[in-house]
Amino acid sequence: MTILHIDTSINGDNSASRQLTRSVVEQIKGSRWGERIVYRDLAANPIPHLTLDQFADTSVLDEFLEADTLVIGAPMYNFGIPSQLKAWFDRIAIAGKTFRYTENGPEGLAGGKRVIVALARGGFYGEGTPTAAFEFVERYLRAAFNFIGIEPEFVLAEGLAVSPEQRETSISQALGETVRLAA
Ligand SMILES: Cc1cc2nc3c(=O)[nH]c(=O)nc-3n(C[C@H](O)[C@H](O)[C@H](O)COP(=O)(O)O)c2cc1C
Repeated sequence: MTILHIDTSINGDNSASRQLTRSVVEQIKGSRWGERIVYRDLAANPIPHLTLDQFADTSVLDEFLEADTLVIGAPMYNFGIPSQLKAWFDRIAIAGKTFRYTENGPEGLAGGKRVIVALARGGFYGEGTPTAAFEFVERYLRAAFNFIGIEPEFVLAEGLAVSPEQRETSISQALGETVRLAA
């Protein structure tokens, strides 16, 4: 069993999403979710934006298909996912491999994997907040993974830019959530 651990934050050691993915991976490694860890840092080693030529390189898709569990860090940048993460998703959403169109509509082909996403954002975007409609990270990732047959799980640290106290509270609450996810 293999865990694919993906980080995307540009914030290095100060990154909340990196702290959360590390916590999840440390807790689940060696369990039924996976013994082997494959690590991909999309900030340090970005995948080029998609071009037609790049469809020939299936290494990113193969790595995804071989993974049983994925742990992905997803900071909010300008209301959406980092473009590095979008470039990764562009390599794994492949017709005939991870989804197909049928007479009854699209069908996901990548089911059976566990996907845990660590979300980090500066503000608050929960239901009922004035900025709820600006939230395109969790919404996008849920839709995108659902499309290929996966129901992702999320752990969230938000309000990180509001104050140092809020940041500490949010990260420590989210770290607590990682314990529940890993259990
Ligand atoms: C380029 C950039 C764009 C950002 N855009 C948003 C945003 O649209 N909404 C928000 O709430 N926070 C935004 N933030 C704040 C980050 O979401 C926040 O710092 C979060 O902690 C980033 O995750 P990280 O700590 O893992 O790097 C932005 C940060 C950066 C660097």
